[in-house]
Amino acid sequence: MAFPASFIDELVARNPIEDVVGQYVSLKRSGANMFGLCPFHGEKTASFSVSPDKGICYCFGCHKGGGVINFMMEIEGLSYPDAVRNLAKRAGMEVPEDEQYQSRYRAQERLWALMKEAGRFFNERLYAPEGAACRAYITKRGLTKNIVTQFGIGYAPDSWNALVDAMRKKGYTDQELRAADLVGEKNGRIYDRFRNRLMFPIIDVRGNVVGFGGRVLVQSEPKYLNSNETLIFNKRKNLFGLNFAKKTKQPNIILVEGNIDVVTLHQFGFDNAVASLGTSLTEDQVTLLSRYTEEVILTYDGDEAGQRAAKRAIPMLEKAGIKVRVLQVKDAKDPDEFLQKLGADRFKLLLEESANRVEYQLNAIRSKYDLRVDDQKILYVQESAELIASLDSSVKREVYGGRVAEAAGITPEAMKLEVEKARKHRQAREKKKQEQIDLAPVRAMQPKERSIRYDNVKSALAEETVIAQSLREPAMLDTCRMLTGSQFSVPLFGRVFDQLQARHGNGLEVSLAVLEDLSPEEVSHIAGICQKQNGPVNQKAFSDCVKLILSEQQRRNITTDDELMALRNKLKESKGANI
Ligand code: UTP
Ligand code: MN
Repeated sequence: MAFPASFIDELVARNPIEDVVGQYVSLKRSGANMFGLCPFHGEKTASFSVSPDKGICYCFGCHKGGGVINFMMEIEGLSYPDAVRNLAKRAGMEVPEDEQYQSRYRAQERLWALMKEAGRFFNERLYAPEGAACRAYITKRGLTKNIVTQFGIGYAPDSWNALVDAMRKKGYTDQELRAADLVGEKNGRIYDRFRNRLMFPIIDVRGNVVGFGGRVLVQSEPKYLNSNETLIFNKRKNLFGLNFAKKTKQPNIILVEGNIDVVTLHQFGFDNAVASLGTSLTEDQVTLLSRYTEEVILTYDGDEAGQRAAKRAIPMLEKAGIKVRVLQVKDAKDPDEFLQKLGADRFKLLLEESANRVEYQLNAIRSKYDLRVDDQKILYVQESAELIASLDSSVKREVYGGRVAEAAGITPEAMKLEVEKARKHRQAREKKKQEQIDLAPVRAMQPKERSIRYDNVKSALAEETVIAQSLREPAMLDTCRMLTGSQFSVPLFGRVFDQLQARHGNGLEVSLAVLEDLSPEEVSHIAGICQKQNGPVNQKAFSDCVKLILSEQQRRNITTDDELMALRNKLKESKGANI
């Protein structure tokens, strides 16, 4: 939904970006900017900048950035309207809602409240007489009362109407119970969906109970019954335990398969464990993880399915810039069994020795070959050497090279030669690549964000300046009334320019924060441009840029005319000049 522009203006004005960001990041002033550790990617040196006068934030490391609303969306994982609502609350402002949105939001709030009540109900039932068997099961699984309380674990009674009755008494309608997926329905009557199960509330990063996973107490199928998708729950976008793990002091997150694994890990002090709700890892979950950590320790079960899951997850995580380690659970089927059997210290050892990416990959290479066959042994050595050659530390190359040599039964020296050879090849390849980049500045100048292309770099750079300086000093927009967005070579800049010009013309606030219809990537890109432009706005440079944009546009037009002419001539020729 669209909020009135004037409302957004006021919202932005009343939520200074440095204050809002300051609630999440500790900032230190340095000149006109403030710097802190980027909340969107783990880092040790502060590359996240906030510019109070420009009203933007931008990370020079991960290139995320934007105005105060974009920041709120990103950091809290909120939609645009929710971020606006959040900031309005912060500033004590009333939100002009449209009817439809308001009702959706109210429905959401009711569902959150209902799920919380249901969680409370299940937890209470655990301690009632009827919960005895479930309590015994919890004890048998080695879970403590503390951890049960922390996770809000409960018991769904063996009844068709216990929850329904309790929630009706609290004022929830049948329709709401259906919408929360807490009930089934037969012959027009609703009944408890979760019965005689150990209940794990699924809590989102904002702390709302959004779903449940219910495990049977005695072996039967299906082992788990999970909430289906609702207005407030999508299992592909949540991770079990992330509401706790996001607060960990550990530099990484342990990703496991089972809910019980997560709970047990937390009980044993590994407060950085999460699980992927019974689905194989999804892109949304990867994005979520990348917001809270820069390293994931994959801890899938030792069976073949677990290994396959790990292989699939690694490239997904790496693509999102997350480092991956793979922990192989030995002597137990999963982390839960391991901890209960062997304890936290032994698990710490596993963590420490947890095969890093290299070891894991080396193992994968090794498993492809039969080392008793000479030809295959050679291939194994060569392929391993390729991988080892990519390591930038000579110590690592030596260590891993040594291991491969030993496995292949060759001398470390021979292996070293193999690695050196692979390194030379690699360097030659890289040099060639660099030359290509140097030869193609147009390509090298392309924005980091791949969805934005600069077809005409010269014009694009001028457009960057016009946009950044107009955002800095809106009065500049008065000096380029003859320019329109359609004359820009980069459509994104054209769109932004038109918005700025329109807003300025109507006397509205001109800032990055109030721009509409931009994707997060586009906002980040604009924020990056603004953050790179420093120093005072220069009238002469500005008008030079405007002139350049116009002349480049004319040149483009001419070219198209030329092309048309050429095409015409060609046609003429082929038709024997009867045009
Ligand atoms: P597991 O079978 O490993 O479950 O499934 P677990 O939680 O470790 O339970 P225990 O140790 O056998 O008691 C891993 C996850 O897959 C989902 C659940 O989220 C579970 O935690 N799952 C499993 C389902 O959604 N449905 C099922 O029938 C089984
Ligand atoms: Mn398990």
